[in-house]
Amino acid sequence: MDALVFTEVVKAFSPGVNVLDGLSATIPLKGLCFVVGKSGSGKSVLCRLAVGLLKPDAGQVELSGERIDTLPERKLQAVRAKVPYLVQGPALLDWLTLQDNVALASKGKPDDTRVQQAIDRVGLTDFKSRFPPEVGPGIKKRTAIARALVLQPRYLLLDEPTTGLDREAAGQVNDTLALLKQQGLGAMVVSHDYRAVERLADLVLVVDAGKASFRS
Ligand SMILES: Nc1ncnc2c1ncn2[C@@H]1O[C@H](COP(=O)(O)OP(=O)(O)O)[C@@H](O)[C@H]1O
Ligand SMILES: [Mg+2]
Repeated sequence: MDALVFTEVVKAFSPGVNVLDGLSATIPLKGLCFVVGKSGSGKSVLCRLAVGLLKPDAGQVELSGERIDTLPERKLQAVRAKVPYLVQGPALLDWLTLQDNVALASKGKPDDTRVQQAIDRVGLTDFKSRFPPEVGPGIKKRTAIARALVLQPRYLLLDEPTTGLDREAAGQVNDTLALLKQQGLGAMVVSHDYRAVERLADLVLVVDAGKASFRS
């Protein structure tokens, strides 16, 4: 099945405290699935489990029918190229132009057509020669998204892409998500941004008390 499937996943970081406590959810790898829940409920843990950066204590994680939790590290690298995970924060190098930051994903080849396409897709063509300290937080975040797009994924994991951004910058990032959605890209988006949820979500997954359920 073309989905990210969590089956009865248990994850604890200290004995007796299960952050995830038998969580099951099937997230189709198309459209935008927003993941909401209180701070500390395990949303980022869910993202890390999805690409094998963490292993569950029990249960299983599958991506497009492939077991992720038992996959060896060398095979996980291909998974992470197929489904890039964007951590919170822009994560750009301030001494490289936006274009060169995007090109990091193509081993530093800025002329790679995939780099230019990724920049165009998020609407950053006019900004590509700027440096991160010269642009606002919305443009930085879009640059980080462009870097993930160089790998030409069909699906992204976005961890709180608008948290900490002002309203204008958040609006820019949400516009970019809307554009990418139109282009057929899917994503699991961890977000507290209720405007984005209302506007963009195909599904809303609520994480609470170690379990997850879709909001109808
Ligand atoms: N690597 C880790 N080591 C110890 N505790 C962790 C680790 N990662 C997450 N946790 C704990 O797991 C819980 C869920 O974290 P997280 O998934 O980051 O929450 P959020 O829903 O805010 O993204 C928190 O209590 C956090 O402190
Ligand atoms: Mg988090």
